[in-house]
Amino acid sequence: MEATRTRAEIPIHLESTNKGRRTCEVIIEDGILDNLGDEIAELSSSKDLGRRVVTVTDSHVGKLYGSKLLTGISKEFSSASSTIEIKAGEKSKSLVNASALCDKLAKLGTDRNSALIALGGGVVGDLTGFVACIYKRGIEYFQVPTTLLAQVDSSIGGKTGVDTEWGKNQLGTFHQPRAVFIDPTTLDTLPKKETINGVAEIVKSAIVADRRIFDRLCDAQESDLLSLETLKPLIPSVCRIKAQIVAKDETEVGPRATLNFGHTVGHAIESASSYSLSHGRCVILGMIAESWVAWQLDLFEERDFSRSQELLERLLNEIAVSQKARQLLGNKKELTRLAMSDKKSTTSGIRMSLPERIGRMSVGGPDGNYKVPVSNEMFVASINYLREHLA
Ligand SMILES: NC(=O)c1ccc[n+]([C@@H]2O[C@H](COP(=O)([O-])OP(=O)(O)OC[C@H]3O[C@@H](n4cnc5c(N)ncnc54)[C@H](O)[C@@H]3O)[C@@H](O)[C@H]2O)c1
Repeated sequence: MEATRTRAEIPIHLESTNKGRRTCEVIIEDGILDNLGDEIAELSSSKDLGRRVVTVTDSHVGKLYGSKLLTGISKEFSSASSTIEIKAGEKSKSLVNASALCDKLAKLGTDRNSALIALGGGVVGDLTGFVACIYKRGIEYFQVPTTLLAQVDSSIGGKTGVDTEWGKNQLGTFHQPRAVFIDPTTLDTLPKKETINGVAEIVKSAIVADRRIFDRLCDAQESDLLSLETLKPLIPSVCRIKAQIVAKDETEVGPRATLNFGHTVGHAIESASSYSLSHGRCVILGMIAESWVAWQLDLFEERDFSRSQELLERLLNEIAVSQKARQLLGNKKELTRLAMSDKKSTTSGIRMSLPERIGRMSVGGPDGNYKVPVSNEMFVASINYLREHLA
């Protein structure tokens, strides 16, 4: 007897004034990669099975899953054989590469009726989404995320972009994929060092919006915190959190800012390290510091603050925090400068998205925009707290 696969379907209904009503489907199923042709044909806005479908992937993921995906799509689409491979790694997320990708699409005869598939991690997803948005003023695309971070975070929500010399994600658009197809079995080949980036976003989502996920993480044995057995079953719930928040606030003028918890301090550390420290490690450090700020400001309940610190410390024990991270925390002037240039901060100072309880975020200052004003002194104190923590 054939085993039944579990499938989660999460529709995100979007309604923005300039783009009208749209739905993005998030579908999570082990092995969905094998049937992607059927799935795409079912959800496509165009029912033309002769349309061109171009897969964009990177040099690692292409080797692992490229031909499997093509076999799945070719069953349905007659012109589905094109794949464009980019070099794996953050450096590929550039305007030069976006432009080169557009040239390649044009040479393949990609038209407005065509669709792109982003097969890979957040780099492939952000770059492909960006190109899908600008190529011929916008074509349909699908996300097929293969890292934990991309499955629980970056593939959902329609943020696309490229990095520039003056910073990460400085050029970008909001362009929703028609659907996100998540095959958790692809995580089986993901290097362990990449898992931590996804774990940081899972813990963040739990503190922001779901106490039950937080409790499940707390219940995991020390050594299981980073194991796929613990993490895979959480994927649908974490996707649901992001889906609900994005549906309420597609362009991040309100509650979507809550997903930035841990990222003001985290981005400052990541940027100060010239991106040599992984995003996940930096966000974990950021959550420790920002939880402390929330507690100092009497926003975060004492018991929940202690519980969050306990879980974050357990994570810290699992991942090595380098001497470099410790050294960077000594440069408070630079970290403050970087925090002040964070997207949430304003001319009047640093802003952070902070928790009130595990599962609930503060609505913030008088504007209710989920961004809490934090003085420079408090920011520096949180860096000191972090330093003592890591000593
Ligand atoms: N759009 C958003 O909302 C959003 C949110 C968070 C992060 N991001 C962006 O995401 C990017 C980071 O994404 P990432 O962490 O997925 O990194 P990544 O895309 O660079 O992937 C990490 C590495 O894992 C490899 N890989 C991917 N899937 C694999 C698999 N199944 N098996 C083996 N190897 C695999 C890749 O080739 C790469 O070497 C950053 O550019 C960040 O800015 C975007």
